[in-house]
Parts: sequence; structure tokens; C-alpha cells
Amino acid sequence: MTQDRITLKRPDDWHLHLRDGAMMEGVLPFSAAHFARAIIMPNLVPPVVTGADAARYRDRILDALPNGASFEPLMTLYLTEDTDPTDVKTAQESGLIKAVKLYPAGATTNSASGVQNFDRVRPVFEMMAEIGLPLCVHGEVTRSDVDIFDREAVFIDEVLEPIRRTTPGLRVVMEHITTAEAVAYASEGGPNLSATITVQHLMLDRNDMLVGGIRPHFYCLPILKRGTHCHALIKAATRGNPRFFLGTDSAPHATDTKENACGCAGCFTAPVAMSCLAEVFDEAGSLDALESFTSLNGPAFYQLPANEDQITLQRGTPIDIPKEIETDAGPVTVFNPGRPLHWRVV
Ligand code: DOR
Ligand code: ZN
Repeated sequence: MTQDRITLKRPDDWHLHLRDGAMMEGVLPFSAAHFARAIIMPNLVPPVVTGADAARYRDRILDALPNGASFEPLMTLYLTEDTDPTDVKTAQESGLIKAVKLYPAGATTNSASGVQNFDRVRPVFEMMAEIGLPLCVHGEVTRSDVDIFDREAVFIDEVLEPIRRTTPGLRVVMEHITTAEAVAYASEGGPNLSATITVQHLMLDRNDMLVGGIRPHFYCLPILKRGTHCHALIKAATRGNPRFFLGTDSAPHATDTKENACGCAGCFTAPVAMSCLAEVFDEAGSLDALESFTSLNGPAFYQLPANEDQITLQRGTPIDIPKEIETDAGPVTVFNPGRPLHWRVV
């Protein structure tokens, strides 16, 4: 008999872009509806660099939460070459931040203040290793001579492995991994290494984005790869391996900035993330591994308790995916994978 109902511990999102102001107010309710906690990306303009910045941003998020919502933003600091290790330590000790985010300069949206010279942030890495604070890594090199489809694999060899070798004990989350190489590296990295996987990278490959017309709402960074990589990610996610967990990377941009001659990178998946994941795990015959991926492996790596409350998904007729949500910062197109989603949160 096929299963048509599943109850999980409430999930967390270990990589989320909420933005700020009107956009944040518009998108936040969709994450808070399903997820208990989320690691909040610091790539605002200007970025969230210091503990004081993170405290103010956290207050703005809490103020924007709908009445009665229960949602805990887990804050991060944006690593720059000027980051002060003491400020990082203080922010961690007070419980304010749960990670530091590394963007190689120029890798993606609002990453201009990121790191160019990794030697300059060595003291921060050493402090983080000492206090056990995870480093969330956008793992792509930015050199123009490296093809966009190869940037993740090259980053592992040229940047990540040297960092981990020179700072033993540094706890690292390889974020939004997209390749079989990253799956292999994360699988073999031991207890200080983990990786998040997005919804879109589990559902789509580059053909979905480019064959028969270019689909700007499937454009994100790291870019979708070929199907063999998508299959490697599905395997990694659906086999219960504790190294892998959900980070949606839900990244809202107003529709007109994506349907544009120079469109922004990011998929707004928050409203449909759980329906998408249930579909993927169901297709893989692995619904029993969904809870590990969405609700258990992440807290275990971040050394936090799993959530006490639960969420139930029910299989039935395909859900209606809204085309857009309205925000006071403009409409935002909702991720639609182009195939029916049978699971809804009830
Ligand atoms: O697609 C993406 N969008 N990838 C990122 O790394 C950043 C994000 C954003 O902020 O829009
Ligand atoms: Zn992101």
C-alpha cells in the first residue's frame, strides 16, 4: 500500500534569504508557516557584518513576524577581511549567532564585500574552530577563467580543502551543494563537515532551465548542473546520511528583476518547499528518510535540539501553486518545478 500521510518533527531551514523591509514582511510568513527555525543569510545591502548588525536585523525579523507565528531566526555574520574575531566570539557566546557566512568576493548576489584573500581571515577561522562555531560556505571560485559549471568542484580543491587543512577543527557547512564532487567530499569529511541541499537542485537540472526557452525562475547560484549531479544529490539526501540536510536557499527577488535582460539569481521556494521535498522523497521510495533530512540532521550538526512540535503532510490531488505572492516590494514569483506536487502540509 502506498503511504498517503506522513508526520515529521517540525522542519528547519538551514539556509534562508529573508531580505529586509517590505520584501521581508512579504516573504517571512511563508517560512514561518512550516519551518520552526532558519539560518538567516546576511547578504543584505549593506551586509550584516557585526554582532550589533545581527542583533538589529534579528529584531526587525521578530517585529515582522505575523501574530501567533512561532519562528526563530538563527543569525549569521557576513565574513569580511575586516571581521574582528573577538566580535564573532562575543556574538556566539551571547547566543545571538549560530554561524559565520563565507562568500568569496563576487560569487553571487550582494557578495562584493566577501573574502578575496583567505589568509586575511585565518584568525577568524582559528577563533571559530576554538569555539566550535560553524562556517557556512558559498563554495564557488570566482575566477573568470573557470567555467560557471565547474566553479564548485574547483572551489573544493583550491579553497575548501586548504582551509580545512590549515584550520583543523573548523566546523564547515558546504551550502547548497550541486555536484557529485561535493557529495563525495562531504560524505568523506568526518564529523566537522556537512552539506545543505536546496529544493530546486533536487528537482531540476540544467536542461530544465535551458531547453525549449530560458526559464529565469530556475536561475540560481550555484547554477543547476547536469542530470547526473541531480541524481547524486537525490541519493545523498534520501539515504538518511546525517551529513546532509535541508537548506532551501529560498531567495526572493521581485519578478521583474528576474524576468530581465540581466536577471537576478535565486528561486523563491519557501511556500512549496515541503511539498516539493515530499514529492522527491516519495518518488525515491524514501519517505521514511524525509524527517532526517528536514528535521533531524541539521539540528544535530548545529548542536541544537530537534523541534518538539510536528508537521503532517497528506498526499492527494495536485496542489495549486500560486504564480506569485504580492509584497510591498513587488510581486515575487513562486517556484514551480513544472510537475504536479501531490503532498500538502495539513
Ligand atoms: O541564487 C542565489 N541567490 N544564490 C545565492 O548564493 C544568493 C541568492 C540571493 O541572495 O539572491
Ligand atoms: Zn543563499
